[in-house]
Amino acid sequence: MDLDAFHLHPPDARLLEGRVALVTGATGGIGAATALELAAHGAAVTVDYRSKDDTARTMVEAITAGGGRATAVELDVTDEDSVIAAFATTREALGTVDLLVANAGIETRSPLVDMALEDWRRVIDVNLTGAFLCAREAARGLRAAGARGVLVFMSSVHEQIPWMEFSHYCASKGGMKLFMQSIARELAPHGIRCVDVAPGAIATAINRPVLEDPQEREAVLDEIPYGRWGEADDVARAGPWRASAQADYVVGTTLFVDGGMTLYPNFV
Ligand code: BGC
Repeated sequence: MDLDAFHLHPPDARLLEGRVALVTGATGGIGAATALELAAHGAAVTVDYRSKDDTARTMVEAITAGGGRATAVELDVTDEDSVIAAFATTREALGTVDLLVANAGIETRSPLVDMALEDWRRVIDVNLTGAFLCAREAARGLRAAGARGVLVFMSSVHEQIPWMEFSHYCASKGGMKLFMQSIARELAPHGIRCVDVAPGAIATAINRPVLEDPQEREAVLDEIPYGRWGEADDVARAGPWRASAQADYVVGTTLFVDGGMTLYPNFV
């Protein structure tokens, strides 16, 4: 994350001027890149944090120094009160959130027969219940304000591709897809659009164990027709258009950002 390089895009390239965004998991790889990209497009952005308050504050300072607007808020997406408080803080500081990026997510590896209930619950809790709590709060705020908005869910290719030893993760992302589509139907008549962004293999901390093992890194590459791992910016740059008025007719769909991983390159 090159914070010194932060600058707003030229005025006529900005897609999100006047918008108020809240990004969860904003101090991590894809979350941080997304928060910065939204800010570069002119959105006022709430950067959440759990333990990395320094990172969040540094991001806010960089955005502000570059002419953007941002604030930091402590948020545990699994905690209802914490979610309600984070949206209230954003409303006071920046205005009603009209662009949620529900990005906070975790993954752990475990064969089914060894999977502890605690592991299952934790992954579902952060990835799926967290998305639900944030979506509900965003939708409540928009409905109360009679405003339009966009809810973006950071899903995964694993909303579609089964993944051995990550069944809880796949359940959370597959669940996210149908959750998103169901609420997309509920909210569309109110001018609130819901979409998924589904990254493939992105070189961020969540994949460090794989990236550090040459064989595993190559094995993943074999699943990517485009021939390279993705970068956080590949995902971040795919978000603003979907969230902007330019994509006003895009409702309830998933945008895969995966170098072709969902084309099943090894199926012959
Ligand atoms: C996971 C990564 C994985 C990728 C492709 C993502 O959802 O977070 O760990 O490399 O899917 O399998």
